[in-house]
Amino acid sequence: MARHLITSAIPYINGIKHLGNLVGSQLPADLFARFQRARGNEVMFICATDEHGTPAELAAAKAGQPVDDYCAQMHAVQAEIAEGFRLSFDHFGRSSSPQNRVLTQAFAKRLAEEGLIREVTEQQMYSNFDGRFLPDRYIEGTCPNCGFDSARGDQCDNCTKQLDPVDLINPRSTISGSTDLELRDTKHLFLRQSAMRDKLQAWIDSKTDWPILTTSIAKKWLNDGDGLQDRGITRDLSWGVPAQFEGAPWTGMDGKVFYVWFDAPIEYIAATEEWADKTGGDWARWWRTDRGAQDVTYTQFMGKDNVPFHTLSFPATILGSNEPWKLVDYIKSFNYLNYDGGQFSTSRGRGVFMDQALSLLPADYWRWWLLSHAPESADSEFTWDNFQASANKDLADVLGNFVSRITKFTRSKFGEALPEGGNWGEKEAALIAELTTRVRDYEAFMEAKEVRKAAAELRAIWVAGNEYLQSSAPWTVFKTDPAQAAAQARLALNLVRLYAVLSAPFIPDASASMLAGMQTEDTSWPDDIEAALNVLPVGHAFTVPEVLFRKISDEEREEWQGRFAGTRD
Ligand code: MF3
Ligand code: ZN
Repeated sequence: MARHLITSAIPYINGIKHLGNLVGSQLPADLFARFQRARGNEVMFICATDEHGTPAELAAAKAGQPVDDYCAQMHAVQAEIAEGFRLSFDHFGRSSSPQNRVLTQAFAKRLAEEGLIREVTEQQMYSNFDGRFLPDRYIEGTCPNCGFDSARGDQCDNCTKQLDPVDLINPRSTISGSTDLELRDTKHLFLRQSAMRDKLQAWIDSKTDWPILTTSIAKKWLNDGDGLQDRGITRDLSWGVPAQFEGAPWTGMDGKVFYVWFDAPIEYIAATEEWADKTGGDWARWWRTDRGAQDVTYTQFMGKDNVPFHTLSFPATILGSNEPWKLVDYIKSFNYLNYDGGQFSTSRGRGVFMDQALSLLPADYWRWWLLSHAPESADSEFTWDNFQASANKDLADVLGNFVSRITKFTRSKFGEALPEGGNWGEKEAALIAELTTRVRDYEAFMEAKEVRKAAAELRAIWVAGNEYLQSSAPWTVFKTDPAQAAAQARLALNLVRLYAVLSAPFIPDASASMLAGMQTEDTSWPDDIEAALNVLPVGHAFTVPEVLFRKISDEEREEWQGRFAGTRD
């Protein structure tokens, strides 16, 4: 039995995420976790909310709430929505947890012991009007790299370049809009990433099987010269992991916290500790190669803007510690999903947000569309036409129709149990041969995290069943040879169970309805297709499931298109 540690980039606490965020990290991570569990492997699937830093403070201020209350409330909201999408986290943690505070401070101390922390007195932007320093998102201006005029102090959203507030051209405070800014001295801790260039380079170079999207971004930052600059890992903020703590190897850091991008990835580990504290489980066998994690395969899922932090910064923390922590084995990254001719926009409420999506249709519709159109090789686009067409065709016409046709036919001719008689012949052998090839391909795509290809193969597997039913036509055969029609019905009802098993990682709710209809809890993976099509024996009772997928009407499509065009704010 293989052991899979799987993490999704942890979403910022502020606000509800849109479908583009979902398809870039949490959803494909869930697909992979469900697949590995279905194969009988041991899985630890971790996500959390990213609660520190300026985004949280700014959002709390806007909501008129203390930041800790705001975070607690938004965590509960995000957890509930995640459940609505059937995201099967083993634990959904919080980066503001005590476990993360302790671990983040321990990493910082360890890095200092390894000689990788420098204390630097530097100049930071101070706002005279606001009476405070303006780190990261408290400051905006023009990107020195691409000219984008709303680049933030920590990163440009347009070109993804990591920035320092002092790099910005024409900077202004995002609190007050004031441009009355000056540089003032302040002391900070710097992580000597540059000292680890060779180690990181060798590590990235060894990852020949990673997606090009991941390695190309990593190599760009490595070779770019300033991608691996020593970076400040502390900030003049009050909300975060305190940089001054008992046993700290430095003084004078009171009132400062670690940079959110320093503590956020450490939360992957800390969230596993949170899980262990809650369940009595053992977190170390997932994370410490001296305590059982040597045979773990660790896969991370994220959007492309997160890649520099996961290929360089976080590995610098892990490798720099010189302790036996589990390093990531595979980084699956995604391009962006656009919305109906433009971009999703959180501030303008453009596009469909996770809570809204669930109020329109059950999770499986969204899961299927998003995963089958995942932005892997390039950005992709959500359009309502495409969403309607693919739901109505793939889910309703192909899969849903297959299930309803065969269950209703069998019930009307033979009653609600698998009928006896007849033999399988050439058509059945051909179907088994086709399914054998396709299921092996499907497994290979899922193992390779090739999400779109896996979806296409699953669709082809559904189509094969439909075509079998169409060409073998048990409703016609029944008139002359009822026993033969019974043999066909047995095969097709077993296919319903098989489809439930294969489809569960994509559409878990529909899969559960199909299994309930077939009155079985046998979810064993089809290592042998012929055997899998004999799991439900003659006489096994079934029921006709409720309609699995209703169709989306043109009226609905038009109404939704208007409703989500961008009105919030
Ligand atoms: N909150 C970040 C984002 O949404 C992702 C953080 S991932 C982690 O872009 F590595 F920091 F955990
Ligand atoms: Zn830029």
